[in-house]
Amino acid sequence: MNVLLTGGLGYIGSHTCVELLNAGHRAVIVDNLCNAYGSVLDYIEQITGIRPRFYEADAQDRAAMERIFSENEIDAVIHFAGLKAVGESCRIPLAYYRNNLDSTLTLLETMEKYGCKRLVFSSSATVYGPDNPVPYNEEMPCHVATNPYGWTKAMIEQIIRDYVTANPDFSAVLLRYFNPVGAHESGLIGDDPNGIPNNLMPYIARVAGGQLEKLTVFGNDYDTPDGTCLRDYLHVVDLAKGHICALDYAAVHTGAEAINLGTGNGVSVLELLHTFIRVNGVDVPYVIGGRRDGDLARCYANAEKAERVLHWKTEKTVEDMCRDSWNFIVKHTK
Ligand code: NAD
Ligand code: UD1
Repeated sequence: MNVLLTGGLGYIGSHTCVELLNAGHRAVIVDNLCNAYGSVLDYIEQITGIRPRFYEADAQDRAAMERIFSENEIDAVIHFAGLKAVGESCRIPLAYYRNNLDSTLTLLETMEKYGCKRLVFSSSATVYGPDNPVPYNEEMPCHVATNPYGWTKAMIEQIIRDYVTANPDFSAVLLRYFNPVGAHESGLIGDDPNGIPNNLMPYIARVAGGQLEKLTVFGNDYDTPDGTCLRDYLHVVDLAKGHICALDYAAVHTGAEAINLGTGNGVSVLELLHTFIRVNGVDVPYVIGGRRDGDLARCYANAEKAERVLHWKTEKTVEDMCRDSWNFIVKHTK
C-alpha cells in the first residue's frame, strides 16, 4: 500500500512511518514542520534503510495537496497533522480551529478529487469529555469537549462521519489514542516537545536529565488508590502498529469506526514516576502540588474493540515505556 502521512515527521507519525515501512508498505509524508524537524527523515532512513518521499507543505494548502496526490498513487491516508497542546488551544482557539479543521477539509476534498477512499484519523480520548465513567467505550456519547483542542477532535470525527454517510463506499477509522509515551528502541526518534513540556513523561525525562529542577505532581487528593490521577499510558510503538491494523481493516470494510487505542489499565502519576526511577536508576526530585485545572481523576480505555475488530493489543509494559523514553533523552541530548 502507498500511504500518505500528514504530519508524518511528528512524534506518532514518525513511529508509524517506521512500522509501515517495516511492514513492507510505502510512505509519502507531508509536514509543514511547525512542530517537527526535517532531520527526523534521516532518522527514519537510518532505522529502516528507506527514505520516504517528503513534501514540506501545509495540509491546508490545496495546491500542494493536489500536487502530492497527482504525483503519487495514494491508496490510503493517515491524518496526524494537527496542533495538540490543550493549554495553547485555550489561548489561541482560532488557530486551532483553523489549522485542525481546515487541514482535514482540504484533505477530504483532495481525497475525493483523486478517488482515495481510505482514511485513518488521529482522534483522542479527550472526546469522551468529563461526564462518562471509565473505562471508556466507543458507544459512549461524546458531545462535550472541555477545551478547543478537544472540540477540534470531536468536530473532525463528526465531519468524517457525515462524509462517510454521504459516501458509503468510503472507509474511515477514527483512532482514539489514550496517553502515548516511550520512543523507538533505537533512541533516534521520540517525543521532543518545544519549551517546557506539558505532559508527564517528557517532563519526568527532562528532570531526570537535569534540564528541569523538579516535577510537580498535580494533586494527591483524588479518589484513586494513591491519590494521584490514573491514565492509560501506551507505548508509541504499540500505538504505531495499531495504525497498520487500522489500514488493513479499512482496506476491506467501509463506513466510519471509532476505536480506542489504549491498554485498558489505569496507571497513577506516582506509579509511572517510581517505575521510571527504578528501571533507569536515576533520581527524579518531585513535590506534591495542587490539582491542575481540567484534569480528570481517571481516564482509561475499554480496549476490547481494538482487539476484536483490529486484532490489535498492546505488548509493551510500563517498564518498557520508561526505559525507552529515557534512552531517547540520553541519545538525543548527547
Ligand atoms: P506532533 O505535533 O508531534 O505531530 C503533528 C505533526 O503535524 C507535526 O510534525 C507538525 O509539524 C505537523 N502539522 C501540524 N499542522 C500541520 C499542517 N497544517 N500541515 C502539515 N503538517 C502539520 O503530535 P503527535 O503527538 O505526533 O500527534 C499526532 C496526532 O495525534 C495529532 O493530531 C494529535 O492531536 C493526535 N493525538 C496525540 C496525542 C498525544 O498524546 N501525542 C494524543 C491524542 C491524539
Ligand atoms: C493531556 C491532555 C489531553 C491529551 C493528552 C495527550 C489536558 C487536560 N489533557 O492529557 O487532552 O490528549 O495530554 O497525551 O491537558 N502531571 C503531573 N505533573 C506534570 C504533568 C502532568 O502531575 O508536570 C499529571 C497530570 O495531572 C495527569 C497525568 O500526569 O494526571 C498525565 O498528564 P498529561 O501527560 O498532561 O496527560 P493528560 O492530562 O492525560
